[in-house]
Amino acid sequence: MSMKQFNLMGRAALVTGSSRGIGRAIALGLAECGAAVAVHGAHPAKALDETLADVRKLSPRSVAVTGDLSQPDVPEKLVTDATAALGGLDILVANASVQIRKAWAEVTQMEAEQQMQVNFHATLRMVQAAVPGMRTKKWGRILTIGSVQQQRPHPDMIVYAASKSAQENLVRNLAKQLGPDGITINNLAPGVIMTDRNVPALADEAYAARVRNMIALREFGEPSDCAGAALLFCSDAGRYITGVDLFVDGGMAL
Ligand SMILES: NC(=O)c1ccc[n+]([C@@H]2O[C@H](COP(=O)([O-])OP(=O)(O)OC[C@H]3O[C@@H](n4cnc5c(N)ncnc54)[C@H](OP(=O)(O)O)[C@@H]3O)[C@@H](O)[C@H]2O)c1
Repeated sequence: MSMKQFNLMGRAALVTGSSRGIGRAIALGLAECGAAVAVHGAHPAKALDETLADVRKLSPRSVAVTGDLSQPDVPEKLVTDATAALGGLDILVANASVQIRKAWAEVTQMEAEQQMQVNFHATLRMVQAAVPGMRTKKWGRILTIGSVQQQRPHPDMIVYAASKSAQENLVRNLAKQLGPDGITINNLAPGVIMTDRNVPALADEAYAARVRNMIALREFGEPSDCAGAALLFCSDAGRYITGVDLFVDGGMAL
């Protein structure tokens, strides 16, 4: 074992949804290990500019790409844009998601489709677009970001939870198909991580206390808590790990 196994110099990565939150932390980690990173947000925004500036301090060849993954042509376009800008694509982190909180009986068809499109269909399309280039090099790393809700679905996020379980199933299926070409694919399932999407719900102190009590470590995670595991999966250190579903959740899934 050597720290050199985490060296990503010469590798190119796309991290969707990296303008903020967990994706930003993963993008910074990949850049610190030497990868050129395509950071991504749904739309051009100050947060995306700031993330790109921070990532470039670590890895100057990094770029930004934008696109709303609820639009059917965008997943393939993002892979094409990132590949063109970086001169290849070795690492794909499918991190962006849409999460709509609503009682199950009130979820509309459009809301259900939007979540399935971004959280499942877009992942499949990006993998389809990225794998041919990885196959040529006989090296590739694909990481999907799931959720503790694969194990403990939240009553007000029925479609979101189902979309993450579908994505995890896709990972296990593809691990066997991509392995012979030196491509690993894994799923990292966060618990409650302090990012923008959790601010409104956790502002309710009684609710926050109830959720904290479900977590073995009794605290919410930070985006950087997901970066270490992501680096393992995306580097040579994780060369012999594929088809794995790893909870980074302080023990919430137990
Ligand atoms: N935070 C948690 O507690 C938690 C728990 C379990 C799982 N997760 C998973 O972890 C991942 C990251 O979550 P997070 O909390 O870090 O996210 P976040 O802070 O809410 O940021 C969401 C990111 O996704 C992008 N995005 C949102 N909708 C998009 C769309 N339609 N098309 C393209 N990009 C879109 C956003 O871009 P803009 O900046 O342009 O809006 C942003 O970069 C997600 O897959 C989430 O399901 C999070």
